[in-house]
Amino acid sequence: KSAMGTSWEILEEFHIDKDIGFALPNPLEELPSDYDVWMFIAKNITELIETGQLRMKVEKVPLLSIDKLEGHRQQRLAHLVLGYITMAYVWGQGDGDIRKVLPRNIAIPYCKLSEKLGLPPILVYADCVLANWKKKDPSGPMTYENMDILFYFPGEDCAKGFFLVSLLVEIAAASAIKIIPVLFSAMQHQDRGTLQKALLDVVSCLNKALEVFEQIHEHVDPKLFFNVLRIYLSGWKGNSQLPEGLLYEGVWDTPKKFAGGSAAQSSIFQCFDVLLGIQQKDSGESAFEFLQDMRTYMPPAHRGFLGSLEAAPSIREFILSEKDAGLQEAYDKCVKALVALRSYHLQVVAKYIVIPARQKAKEKEGEEKPSALENQGTGGTDVMNFLKTVRGTTEKSLLKEG
Ligand code: HEM
Repeated sequence: KSAMGTSWEILEEFHIDKDIGFALPNPLEELPSDYDVWMFIAKNITELIETGQLRMKVEKVPLLSIDKLEGHRQQRLAHLVLGYITMAYVWGQGDGDIRKVLPRNIAIPYCKLSEKLGLPPILVYADCVLANWKKKDPSGPMTYENMDILFYFPGEDCAKGFFLVSLLVEIAAASAIKIIPVLFSAMQHQDRGTLQKALLDVVSCLNKALEVFEQIHEHVDPKLFFNVLRIYLSGWKGNSQLPEGLLYEGVWDTPKKFAGGSAAQSSIFQCFDVLLGIQQKDSGESAFEFLQDMRTYMPPAHRGFLGSLEAAPSIREFILSEKDAGLQEAYDKCVKALVALRSYHLQVVAKYIVIPARQKAKEKEGEEKPSALENQGTGGTDVMNFLKTVRGTTEKSLLKEG
């Protein structure tokens, strides 16, 4: 398989949709009735948490086989549902009373299904963003107003805002995927004019994604995001609350560590890095390792697509060798658009994590600086340093300075 091919079938093989990219097209909303108990909990998660019934309900779920789940879309829905149940069970009311053991009746089917899908047994971006959406009016557009998420978390509208805006940014950026075959074909035929135009089309898609990103302010409240939703997206890797990880009862004898859900698990930005030949390897060991690790949280077909793109001839090298000012300028515009997205993202992270963390620390008297934990992203990184490093590496890829 090669990402260089010019036909749509090749992208389809990588589970990439021509309109919505890495997002799951038309996610299912219902599972076979055998799984009603799972569905009931996931659908009522906020109420069950608030009334203190969630853990009891989870513990009473019978051990179900995953054999009745048919096809990719049912399996993805079940992975999303079990992810919600697991996060809610571990974090409970979000007050620090946590569970370090996932009961066997959930752990066994969850781990089996995860293995089948090639995903880790924790709520991932591919669940809560890529497979957690529907259109209200099926014939209407993919806009915030005409969409909803399938499952909520405490903080209600905050979950909807965060997941849907992420999805809409993802989809806007994904319109660039269909340009990839054009780029490679133009390069193969040494057709500079077409290549230059295709690069400028990529720039438009990235600019569009940035515009969509601005909706975050309208739909996500920083305090709710920081104090409520973020807890349910947290994982058990590099997390001092669960230093050993989570014990999946009946599956493994020792606890396992998995990172929490974040858009760092999105394939789209990594796709642009690879496409433009931006060497995130140069970001240093830990940033690069984190980005690579995040690939293991992506659906295997998407991970495979990134690998295949990496194996394809380098567009950057081609442009460097051509010494064509117009081409170089178009390439630099792509890099700049990616830098702009990452800069905007940094501002968003400051507003939604760094500032609320500082405020919270102030509220707790005596503490001036946020604790290391509170300054961490859900994926467990030292947020600002990591994000600035990644942006810096992007910027350094410019052919011309300034
Ligand atoms: C309230 C909104 C958001 C917050 C608070 C936020 C926070 C973070 C944090 C803390 C990280 C560091 C990695 C981690 O700890 O998991 C991260 C990484 C990342 N986020 Fe976001 N994020 C937000 C929205 C988005 C959106 C809408 C996108 C695009 C779909 C996005 C794309 C990324 C990417 C691609 C990375 C990996 C670093 C990179 O490639 O530059 N984020 N984000």
